[in-house]
Amino acid sequence: MTEKENGLADDPGWFELKFPDLLSADSVREVHARIVAEWDYLQRSACQMAAGRALWKHVIHDPLADLLAGEACLRNLHEKIKKDRSNNAREMSGVILAVRTLWFDSKIEGALTSFNGRDSQVVLLGAGMDTRAYRLSCLKESDVFEVDFPELLQAKANLIKIAIESPYEHHHHQQIAKSLNRVAADIRSSDWLEKLQSAGFAPEKNTVWVLEGLLYYFTHSQAMQVLETIADKCNITHTVLLADFMNKPSTTLSNSVFHFYCDWPDHLLPSLGFSSTKLSQIGDPDAHFGLMHDPLNLFNKIRSLPRSLQTHPDDGKPCCRLYLVQASGSPLLPPIE
Ligand SMILES: C[S@@+](CC[C@H](N)C(=O)[O-])C[C@H]1O[C@@H](n2cnc3c(N)ncnc32)[C@H](O)[C@@H]1O
Repeated sequence: MTEKENGLADDPGWFELKFPDLLSADSVREVHARIVAEWDYLQRSACQMAAGRALWKHVIHDPLADLLAGEACLRNLHEKIKKDRSNNAREMSGVILAVRTLWFDSKIEGALTSFNGRDSQVVLLGAGMDTRAYRLSCLKESDVFEVDFPELLQAKANLIKIAIESPYEHHHHQQIAKSLNRVAADIRSSDWLEKLQSAGFAPEKNTVWVLEGLLYYFTHSQAMQVLETIADKCNITHTVLLADFMNKPSTTLSNSVFHFYCDWPDHLLPSLGFSSTKLSQIGDPDAHFGLMHDPLNLFNKIRSLPRSLQTHPDDGKPCCRLYLVQASGSPLLPPIE
């Protein structure tokens, strides 16, 4: 399928909102009714991310995404994209999410390749409705850990079980990862690492940490606690951290539910113990994926400005940036005698 300048598929039929039959099954409706009635904005954000992956299906292959997103989130995002289309917007709703997903996919694969096939594990903190354990073939030799709130992991497990057992599903949803361990924990509390270890996480194994759409929901001290805990692991084994960071203007938008920001993650992470850090912005050559052709779209305009600028010189609007950051570290070699 070809894509237009704004990243949407260039196929009018593609954009009809069609729900998979399974979404109307009673068992699935029950799970989603509880999600709508009982979950807070933080947990529901997981379904919004899944809706993004479902509607950007021309670039992201995630056959479970519709089911995990639920009708309400799918309709909501679909309406936004429809509006963007009729306004000829340069930035389509969901494009950031699509680029972010593809960036994390490619960096996870790269990190696992850099471990040269050695025993590895991948930890998804704030995993939400992520289905990488079912869709990334690079995970077949890895133990995967998904950490999130208990009710979210339970609902996700129920929905995936329904899909796997459904005779009506066209897709075969098979787990690809060597193992998949769901760890119910509040990452703001002091015992999340202990819970991870009880679930089988081995500190000495090469590890990729995936913090996608997570850090900015934390306060500064909560986010630092998580980053320091991960950085400490660089002293024990080969460690790769993949995370997205908002800059200050992004968190200070009105109605923002975001707290933690970092304008210079490429300075912060080395100070915690990572030996190499690479920062990308949406639209950079490795964070583009053919979805950012328009040189005048917001991301391309901001990307070319110095990062120290907090407001755009042309219109005084805040320069809201999302940094995609890869950092790595490993134990120091013993000194040569
Ligand atoms: C925006 S979603 C991102 C989900 C997933 N990483 C993705 O990109 O699709 C944020 C996720 O972080 C989880 N989360 C936020 N704070 C958490 C905490 N303190 N403990 C455990 N999970 C948390 C939420 O439940 C939600 O699933």
